[in-house]
Amino acid sequence: MPTLADPGITASLLRWHVDAGVDLALDDHPHDRFAESRVQSSQRAALERDIPREEGEHRRLPTTTEQPRRPAPAPAAQRAASIAPLEAAETARALAASARTLDELRAVLEKFEGCALRSTATRLVFADGNPGAPLMLVGEAPGGDEDRQGKPFVGRAGRLLDKMLLAIGLDRSQVYIANIIPWRPPGNRTPTPQETAICLPFIQRQIELAAPRLLVTLGAPSTQTLLGVKDGIMRSRGRWTPCTIAGLTIPTMPILHPAYLLRQPSHKRLAWRDLLAVKKALEAS
Ligand code: URA
Repeated sequence: MPTLADPGITASLLRWHVDAGVDLALDDHPHDRFAESRVQSSQRAALERDIPREEGEHRRLPTTTEQPRRPAPAPAAQRAASIAPLEAAETARALAASARTLDELRAVLEKFEGCALRSTATRLVFADGNPGAPLMLVGEAPGGDEDRQGKPFVGRAGRLLDKMLLAIGLDRSQVYIANIIPWRPPGNRTPTPQETAICLPFIQRQIELAAPRLLVTLGAPSTQTLLGVKDGIMRSRGRWTPCTIAGLTIPTMPILHPAYLLRQPSHKRLAWRDLLAVKKALEAS
């Protein structure tokens, strides 16, 4: 009978997990998530018993068989999951507004516990490049390479982005780069609308503090999130569209995401056309 002590079996089990998209260890020990959800629900019930009610409102008292419990200290993921998304987005707005500089914003994000992605990611991926640059580019979310290095666009898509910038005479020291979501979603899955809504105040504040003259959104998610449009990227790309944040209006050019261009190289000519428009606008600004 093969056992996990056999390195061949362990290696093939790990390969099987990676093929299934499970390419990240979140902890040193396995967790029974079904059991956790039972624990969480009893913690919630215990918390509810402790909440003072409005006069006349029914207040449920512990039954004689129930032991009063104190909620166990929750790990970060559980804490994030237990914060309601609306409350998390509200906290995010207040924290983002409180940051007066990009360094303060990064510090606030490092401590923010309202987004569960923080607990599955290795580290925060805040930005790269020059925060004083006239051009800022915004992608969707970090992938595995970005998660390891803590910088946006450093993997295959990032290398293509560097070539695209070079084609219009720019390098990373002449642009500022960030993402809508600053933590890698596990297995590179698409961020949920709730995660996006929670992270939105932070990227908006980041743009406001960097105050670039021009913005480029990379791909549909970043375009739709920042410009509030529903159009797919094939419709929105190539058209200057205003992005208004806290009274600041920045001309924004949506372009095709470099990860998409790796899969559809024939569309590079569209990206080239859009980049030329960006170059022209930078020269004129
Ligand atoms: N794709 C993105 O949208 N952002 C990154 O940082 C890397 C890949």
